[in-house]
Amino acid sequence: MLVDSHCHLIYPDFQKDIKDVLHRAKEAGVECMLTICARLSEFDSILDFVRTYDQLYGTVGVHPHDVKDYPELSTLDLKERVQKSSKIVGLGECGLDYYYEGYNAPLQKRILATHIEAGKKLDLPLIIHSREGEHDMIKLFDETDVSNNRTGKSPGVIHCFSGTKEFAYKALDRGFYISVSGIATFKKSDDLRAILKEIPLENLLVETDAPYLAPVPQRGKRNEPAFVVHTAKALAELKGISFKKVEQVTTQNFYKLFDKIPA
Ligand code: NI
Repeated sequence: MLVDSHCHLIYPDFQKDIKDVLHRAKEAGVECMLTICARLSEFDSILDFVRTYDQLYGTVGVHPHDVKDYPELSTLDLKERVQKSSKIVGLGECGLDYYYEGYNAPLQKRILATHIEAGKKLDLPLIIHSREGEHDMIKLFDETDVSNNRTGKSPGVIHCFSGTKEFAYKALDRGFYISVSGIATFKKSDDLRAILKEIPLENLLVETDAPYLAPVPQRGKRNEPAFVVHTAKALAELKGISFKKVEQVTTQNFYKLFDKIPA
């Protein structure tokens, strides 16, 4: 059985056919999905979804693109929402994204630090989004001592990894998992594949980031959890191991990280 460690099922893209989407996931062997929160305004829908569908779990957090709408975000804001359901099992997605002009680095760092602090207080893993700001990210990880956020447990996952090799290893050194998305199947992703090839399977998760980033051979379509199979297959090929092995180990990693989910 596979899991989709990161998708956005509450988005309007799935409004018409969520039941079919979940059915296709099941047929494809995807037993569990984590539907991710990018803004607090999404949280009530996430709560609704995880209460409606057994196989769904959720998170709460503010994406770096949306920090301007939540400049006062506190650990209490996150805690109150986590406490609404035992199926809210992680914090994020949160992080740093310096890709688009006009980003507010100090605010992004402050909001990320709030998630890190909440992770420590609530013993929850972080779902980290990272684009461009790798140096600041590692600096903040160390300033906040994120490696020790959860005694003896991983602090979280670098989702949809597409960064540098240096960043990957610095994140691994600090106990993070690295999550492989459909980007790893794209033609132009040779550099990414070279990095992923070297990272032990024990440190990897798989995800779709649906509705975005559909993997080859579905590229260009709306992405959905069933398609995580293509990413897992590509990973097996890349590492020269069986699909079964990828399935088994990445799923085990997922339950180890998101330890509030009964495995
Ligand atoms: Ni996402």
